Amino acid sequence: MTGVTVRVPAKLNLQLAVGPPRADGYHGLVTVFHAVSLFDEITAAPAGRDGVTVTGEGADRVPADGDNLALRAVAALRAAVTAPAVRPAGVHITIAKRIPVAAGLAGGSADAAAALVACNELWDGGLGQPQLVEVAARVGSDVAFALLGGTAVGRGRGERLTPALAPATRYHWVLAFADGHLSTPEVYAALDRLRAAGAGGPAGAGNPVPAARGKPDLNAALMSALRSGDARQVGRALSNDLQPAALSLFPALRKTLAAGLELGALGALVAGSGPTCVFLAANADRALEMAVSLSGAGVCRSVARVTGPVPGAAVVSPAR
Ligand code: C5P
Repeated sequence: MTGVTVRVPAKLNLQLAVGPPRADGYHGLVTVFHAVSLFDEITAAPAGRDGVTVTGEGADRVPADGDNLALRAVAALRAAVTAPAVRPAGVHITIAKRIPVAAGLAGGSADAAAALVACNELWDGGLGQPQLVEVAARVGSDVAFALLGGTAVGRGRGERLTPALAPATRYHWVLAFADGHLSTPEVYAALDRLRAAGAGGPAGAGNPVPAARGKPDLNAALMSALRSGDARQVGRALSNDLQPAALSLFPALRKTLAAGLELGALGALVAGSGPTCVFLAANADRALEMAVSLSGAGVCRSVARVTGPVPGAAVVSPAR
């Protein structure tokens, strides 16, 4: 086999409820992940030793050494593949990026998930989805969801997943990519600081700093909206505890969020740790209008229209 190519989606968090920091430095979460139609493509090909090449959107910001999350996933999979007949040889990973880097869309985690699927196929590793999910959880908090895709509730660090049962509704989203980046650990740290400085105080218009609850709760209104497939209700129920922290580090995002709401978005929020802004549109036509207007409004670097939910990491070639 010359190589295996896997396509993997970006994720949004329709809810991101963050608890206080744990002893291990991570924060306990309740989140509702939602995979959308913005994909990276990863090819794994046999090589003398492990290596990575990155092309496309933001490629210069992706580490091409052992820090690369996809290469870390390869190493984790190699350690997990124990069948005596399997000989996990060296691989070269080529990542064609369309998911912007450090944008709150879990692009690095997506690439790691895709590398797991590609190498499992290349080596004939024989790991099933539950075993891959276990390896994924060790590589990063969002990697397991990129394997699963769809819409799912995440707990723990975000790695303990339960698929959300929902009707086959297709949601239309507009993503506004920012001219800049945010580091996930820095955004979590900013939230801790905001909370320490007086949780509950207003961080800005419509964005009170959410209190650090002992154990965050799943938003029942969001789950009921998803069950009904009513985009209007989903739009009203979107929430992200990291948003005030992202706005404190990147104040220009306020303008972007306000612009989308003025253009008729059913809901608006920062994606994960940001700085991408996410808008829910009532249908495909509204999404197109909103995307065109946002592009012209000078409130972001570029705009994309995506739909969700979409499936997780999957082999595209050679066809299975
Ligand atoms: O797990 P991952 O490597 O993707 O997480 C990146 C960083 O985000 C962590 O090092 C941590 O600072 C922060 N994080 C967190 N709580 C989570 C997930 C991530 O504090 N549940």
